Order: sequence, then structure tokens, then C-alpha cells
Amino acid sequence: MRKIVLTAVLAALPATAMAEGLEDLVEARRGYYKLLGANMGELVAMVKGEAEYDGATAQTHAANLVTLTNYNLGHLYAPGTSKADLPGETRALPEIWDDMAGVQEKGMAFVEAVNELNEVAGLDKAELAAGVQKLGGTCKGCHDDYRAKDF
Ligand code: HEC
Repeated sequence: MRKIVLTAVLAALPATAMAEGLEDLVEARRGYYKLLGANMGELVAMVKGEAEYDGATAQTHAANLVTLTNYNLGHLYAPGTSKADLPGETRALPEIWDDMAGVQEKGMAFVEAVNELNEVAGLDKAELAAGVQKLGGTCKGCHDDYRAKDF
């Protein structure tokens, strides 16, 4: 019932105000993923030897990723925010809204890999490398199906 009321309120808003609101949501969504990417980037650099392995730093980035998995993204995936709705602004494929269960599944694999990484990131470089590789596979797993190659 609450959902229906909310829809009615949204429908009453001027179209431009709503489009702006949705654009803000998309920006926030992309910001979330940028945070994932920023932390992952530091870890990958250590694995590749572009940065020196440091257990405490690796642990910090792994813990940041755990923190990010506790964020509920649901509101950032409001209807009307796919690449089909806002071309040029987002790479989120419309398939996401047709297959929330599939997205959820990819999300769960990602959360699991983050938690595993967090267990080992501070131990040594080999453990970090294995954890990062597994996690990277779960990022790619979702991107392959639900993120467009370009905007
Ligand atoms: C459950 C699905 C899913 C998982 C898991 C996932 N992503 Fe994404 N990611 C997306 C989607 C969808 C977008 C496109 C968002 C948009 O353009 O609105 C995206 C966008 C991005 C972007 C681009 C942000 C920008 O500048 O527009 C980066 C960077 C990124 N993801 C990194 C990661 C990393 C790193 C991981 C794993 C640690 C990860 N993602 C895991 C779905 C996922």
C-alpha cells in the first residue's frame, strides 16, 4: 500500500524535477562503485607489485570493502535509472530490473568473496593475491551480465 502511495506522489512531480532526482541517484550509485574500485585498485596494485605489499594497508582496504557490503543499494536502483532511461549517464543495463534475483545472486557471491578476502588480506601477499583474484571474478561476473561496456 505504501508503495502505491509513493508511486502516486512521484507521478505528480514535474518530469524535470524527477529526472534530476534520478540523475542524482545514478551519480550516487556510480560513486558507490567508484569506492569499490578505489579500494580494489590499491589491492590489485599490491598484488601486481606496483605497490609494495603492506599487511596493514591491505587489511584496511579489505575492511573498507566489508563496510561497503553493509550498504543497502536498493534505493540506488530506482526504476527509471537504467541505461535505456538515461543514456550517456549510466551503464546499468535494463536487464537488472527484469532479473533482480539474478543480480542478488551475483551480489551474494561478491559479499562472500569480500569476507573471505578480509580474513586473509593482512597475512601475506600470496593470500592477498588469491583473495583478490577470487573477488575480481565476482565483480566481473556481475559486470558481464548487468553492466554495459560503454555509456
Ligand atoms: C551485483 C553486481 C555488481 C557487482 C558484484 C559489482 N559491480 Fe561494479 N558495477 C555494477 C553496475 C550495474 C555498474 C554500472 C553502474 C552505473 O553505471 O550506473 C557498475 C559499475 C562499476 C564501476 C564504474 C563506476 C563509474 O565510474 O561509473 C566500477 C569502477 C565498478 N563497478 C567496480 C566494481 C568492483 C571493483 C567490484 C568488485 C569488487 C564490483 N564493481 C562489483 C554492478 C556490479
